[in-house]
Amino acid sequence: MDENDFSGLGWPIKTSFARYVGSLPDGRAALRDPIKASQRTGLVFPLADGGNFDGGSGTGVLRFSGGIGFTGHFGMLRVDIADPWLRIDGDTGILSIAAGADKRLDLASFRLAWDDAAHRDARGEALALTAAGAELFGSAYGEGTELDSFILHLIG
Ligand code: HEM
Repeated sequence: MDENDFSGLGWPIKTSFARYVGSLPDGRAALRDPIKASQRTGLVFPLADGGNFDGGSGTGVLRFSGGIGFTGHFGMLRVDIADPWLRIDGDTGILSIAAGADKRLDLASFRLAWDDAAHRDARGEALALTAAGAELFGSAYGEGTELDSFILHLIG
């Protein structure tokens, strides 16, 4: 299916990290449904619930699902990025991910450049790791380290 046919978050997470894990002898990146691989944006997390999002003002929460589990270094490296949610307030927001049963971790803040007044298409930029987000990556990155930009696409 063409990724323009459904609402989703196109987000490669962090290309240098994926490359690093890919370079490890036992490095793996396991995809969990319904995430999709994409040529354009690396990965697409389909929208699971956008009920709370107000397209008029561009505020609310968009919940996406699917995940990717990075492993390597004989089990010492385990980084799971799953079910990202965008908490959007106009042209800024917070990206959180699942962190165990009913828990969320605020991973990064971002800026949004909207393409349209209806708040359907945007580019998320300047993703800056929170302190907890930096810890998730074994503190190999410091707080504020930039993650890859994302593309937000909402239809219907
Ligand atoms: C046996 C344990 C480990 C060793 C020997 C190790 C070694 C390294 C080395 C040599 C680099 C630099 C790679 C490069 O510049 O190409 C690196 C980068 C990195 N490591 Fe590890 N590492 C270990 C464990 C971990 C763990 C447990 C995590 C996270 C949970 C982690 C996360 C990272 C990250 C995020 C980078 C930066 C990747 C980038 O370039 O963006 N490492 N590590």
